[in-house]
Amino acid sequence: MRRLLIVYSSATGGTRQLVEAAARGAATETAIATTVLTAPLAGPDDLLAADGFLFAAPENLAALSGLMKDFFDRTYYPVLDRLAGRPYAAIICAGSDGAGAARQLARIATGWRLKQVADPLIILTHAQTPEAILAKKTIAPAALTASQTLGATLAAGLAMGVF
Ligand SMILES: Cc1cc2nc3c(=O)[nH]c(=O)nc-3n(C[C@H](O)[C@H](O)[C@H](O)COP(=O)(O)O)c2cc1C
Repeated sequence: MRRLLIVYSSATGGTRQLVEAAARGAATETAIATTVLTAPLAGPDDLLAADGFLFAAPENLAALSGLMKDFFDRTYYPVLDRLAGRPYAAIICAGSDGAGAARQLARIATGWRLKQVADPLIILTHAQTPEAILAKKTIAPAALTASQTLGATLAAGLAMGVF
């Protein structure tokens, strides 16, 4: 059985809802075992044990959330040159932009020589004020569907070995 690893962080719930949707999508592929870990609980061994990855992060200050950056900081060199060619996709949950975090994640994945199998899915919450940014998020159904589809696509490609 091939394994999909999903690593994420979420402060106000948006990324978490997107990850839950992606995991539901991946679960439609019975030949794939999916592991979902929050960033502080994920380490090099989890990466090495997986055949493909979905990384999901909020954008904070035009970059990856601190917890996701810490995950990559802790794991980057321990697994360097040991993940080459494995497929990945990314989800960024952002208030109004998301491009900076997506770019940063893509550079890390390039360093690991991962294979990007889908454009990054950037979901905007349109939170602009401090109150809205700090509030719990409710992700729109269309965005959840897009995330579920991404999870299903990643899992199906992994199962069929097309990546
Ligand atoms: C400290 C901080 C910085 C942020 N910086 C950005 C930013 O640079 N660009 C953006 O589009 N959204 C920014 N946001 C908004 C978050 O990306 C948005 O609220 C997102 O939904 C958070 O995901 P979560 O609900 O999974 O925590 C920021 C939020 C916080 C708390």
